[in-house]
Amino acid sequence: MHKKTQEITDLLIKAAEKARKETSGEPEPGLTSPINWPIDCVVGPGLEGAIACESKIGYVNGTKGWLIYRGYDIFDLCINSTYEEVSYLLLHGELPTEVQLKVYKKKLTQCFNVPETLRTLLSFSIEKMHPMAILRLGLNMLRQEFTKADQADHKPSADSSIATDADTIAMEFAPRGEEHAIFEFKKKKREEEEAAAGINSCYRLIGGAAAITAAMNRIRSGHFPIEADPELSFAANFLFMMTGKKPSVEEERIMDISLILHADHGMNASTFAAMVVASTLSDIYFSIGSGAAALSGPLHGGANEQVIHMLKEIGSVENVKPWFVKARKDKRKISGFGHRVYKAYDPRARILGPLAKHLAKQNKEFGPLFKIAKELEKEVVSSFGKEKKIFPNVDFYSGIVYHALGIPAEMFTPIFTVSRVAGWTARVNEYLENNRIFRPRAMYIGPFNKKYLNGNL
Ligand code: CMC
Repeated sequence: MHKKTQEITDLLIKAAEKARKETSGEPEPGLTSPINWPIDCVVGPGLEGAIACESKIGYVNGTKGWLIYRGYDIFDLCINSTYEEVSYLLLHGELPTEVQLKVYKKKLTQCFNVPETLRTLLSFSIEKMHPMAILRLGLNMLRQEFTKADQADHKPSADSSIATDADTIAMEFAPRGEEHAIFEFKKKKREEEEAAAGINSCYRLIGGAAAITAAMNRIRSGHFPIEADPELSFAANFLFMMTGKKPSVEEERIMDISLILHADHGMNASTFAAMVVASTLSDIYFSIGSGAAALSGPLHGGANEQVIHMLKEIGSVENVKPWFVKARKDKRKISGFGHRVYKAYDPRARILGPLAKHLAKQNKEFGPLFKIAKELEKEVVSSFGKEKKIFPNVDFYSGIVYHALGIPAEMFTPIFTVSRVAGWTARVNEYLENNRIFRPRAMYIGPFNKKYLNGNL
């Protein structure tokens, strides 16, 4: 292994040892047992505590601060794995074999190629729009004729598709021959095609999200989009297509770790949004577009961008304390802190924090911002840690890491999105295996028996 990437791996091993010492224990039985519907559970506002389904994809233990993908601990995945392996794991349930990985990598690289979608997006005022708005549109435009929903009997025609990537349309062909023979053959063939089209849509969304995000960054910085290099890994290609320069091994490794860390996280708001849309048997492109829309908010994935604005607003280490005192007085939410599920230190922040520190040591320009962040963490944790169980979350240090890699703040949430497409598609597919349309109720607390009077108009 390269010396620079070994240094990073050593940091991760140290972070893992510390986390394991502080967070050992057993999984929560109440959140890791098969369900016998219907169940009783205590539900708070914002569906806090509600259990909506079973899943084998991932587990977040909020009291201990664990994150598990398909049985693997997030620290082990970051130390040993790559985003290609992890996204495959999430989608297929097992880590790929060498051959499977080779095929998958090739497919993902092909999926970076979305010329029609990019051409259509270029007709929008990209420079004036937030990249998340463009990415959301782009995810819908990746829609092709043959999607997951098209597998049901309401297959739309190519004309009714929003846009199609001509170069990447999955070709549907009906075998010709005798009526009876065709039926048997066609049935089998169609099942295979449909399964392939479903998973290919997931791959297309993962590769397409990266290509769109990278192209947006190029255009926003006054350059033309560039094509992927088939020799590079997903993380290196993503950085390459975004910046136009081949990343160093260290930059590639850091982006890879960040993509692994953001790939899935339970039934959070964006995952739920994607699942709700999919549960209506709408198609997977609309579903993932809805996930992106939900993720963009400042209470969710949009927080990473807000963190950088906030640290710049604070301006100096000396100003942290007075700034925080005022923020508390104003009851301001501090971006990058707190979590609905974690009431312990977010394991993703345990990894990204040391990475940010590592980058701060190397980059003098970025050092002061990191020091402000560390000081703010100290203030927030000493005030809120014990009392309210508020600690840094993934978004606190991810923005700082991307900033140190020279990526503009508006691109932070799109990068988060690129990674999370893997978790969204995996969970949507899993839910659709036993689909039931989501349909909670609201408590009506409005009036009854109001008289309609013309005089009211
Ligand atoms: N700064 C200050 N106080 C906070 C914060 C914060 N960041 N987060 C929670 N609190 C307080 C909150 O004011 C409330 O206090 P009180 O009981 O006195 O009214 C208590 O903690 C419980 O907070 P809540 O808002 O009811 O918690 P929630 O589970 O509804 O919200 C959250 C979770 C993530 C939306 C919230 O912590 C927050 O707004 N954080 C800042 C935004 C952020 O960093 N979001 C990223 C979340 S992690 C990654 C992701 O999802 O993308």
